[in-house]
Amino acid sequence: MDELLKLISIKKYFPVRRSLKEIFAKNSQAYIRAVDDVSLTLKQGKALVIAGESGSGKSTLARIVLRAINPDSGSIVFNQEEVTKYSGKELKTFRTDVQMIHQDPYTSLDPRMRVLDIVMEPLNIHAKDKTKREKIEEAYKSIEEVRLEPVADVAEKFPSMLSGGQRQRVSIARSLVLKPKLIVADEPVSMLDVSVRAEILQLMNNLKNRLGLSYLYITHDLSTARYIGDEIGIMYSGKIIEDGSIEQVLLNPLHPYTQALLDAISEPDAKNLEKEKIIRIKNIEKKDRPETGCRFIHRCLYSMDICKSDPQKGGEEENHYVSCFIYPS
Ligand SMILES: Nc1ncnc2c1ncn2[C@@H]1O[C@H](COP(=O)(O)OP(=O)(O)OP(=O)(O)O)[C@@H](O)[C@H]1O
Ligand SMILES: [Mg+2]
Repeated sequence: MDELLKLISIKKYFPVRRSLKEIFAKNSQAYIRAVDDVSLTLKQGKALVIAGESGSGKSTLARIVLRAINPDSGSIVFNQEEVTKYSGKELKTFRTDVQMIHQDPYTSLDPRMRVLDIVMEPLNIHAKDKTKREKIEEAYKSIEEVRLEPVADVAEKFPSMLSGGQRQRVSIARSLVLKPKLIVADEPVSMLDVSVRAEILQLMNNLKNRLGLSYLYITHDLSTARYIGDEIGIMYSGKIIEDGSIEQVLLNPLHPYTQALLDAISEPDAKNLEKEKIIRIKNIEKKDRPETGCRFIHRCLYSMDICKSDPQKGGEEENHYVSCFIYPS
């Protein structure tokens, strides 16, 4: 099957802001290794989930894929083309192929614009040669696609007249209007009521199957990941520490961090709620995270001396990889 997106050794380090005192003392510049040598592949028509805790680098990776920020090194291959250095016209075309769904449907839609204008906006920017009539027709089609009905009524409404779930549908309609190949969704359901989350995920799944879309789906929540994902990469401190088919990774988690993440998922079986949950992880201060070797070393219950050096990708199953010294590389 065709590869749509290939990330090869992507790095993005942010300089830590220093006080004047530190600058005068000539303290060396420290960096936050937000994305630290990440390689991943997303196949055409599939959904790749990136999961990990807050600050692990998920949004930074998403912004790199969107070409909103440049990586320090590494390369982004999209549709068999190297797009890392794209600029001008090429970048503009790339930006029609890759669209974004934001986390917060309350702040991501302009409250002064009607739904029709919100959904039509990308066409006004990227499809200047189309007539107004054509643009309206395409926007209507997009609104229909996300099951907002009756279309003509919804099109005239302002965001404030819609529920959170409906707003997120508008956001999805806007992302579809340019017929993209890839949609990057950064926590698209985390701000929504639990009751509407499943419905939005179901819509995203239907669109994926019907339109052959691919998703890069970012979340800290493994329970929603399973709804949508085909593949998953678990991110910790800028690194992908485990990746592979979502079934294999979630049913047979190998990395101690993935195991701890799964431990932390809320218990679906009510009779087990009383039991104290054992989460296999040590609590540490954020500043104790190492910059070399296994980033998880201080929180891991199984850490060994060798973990001070960098673990290589290994594992024992096909399409399931882990970077941990417990497993052969
Ligand atoms: N523009 C920036 N300048 C400096 N540091 C940044 C910048 N953007 C992100 N960071 C840092 O990079 C790290 C990764 O941030 P990022 O937003 O990618 O994490 P995340 O996994 O999306 O977290 P969350 O789940 O909270 O959204 C964090 O330590 C963050 O403080
Ligand atoms: Mg984020």
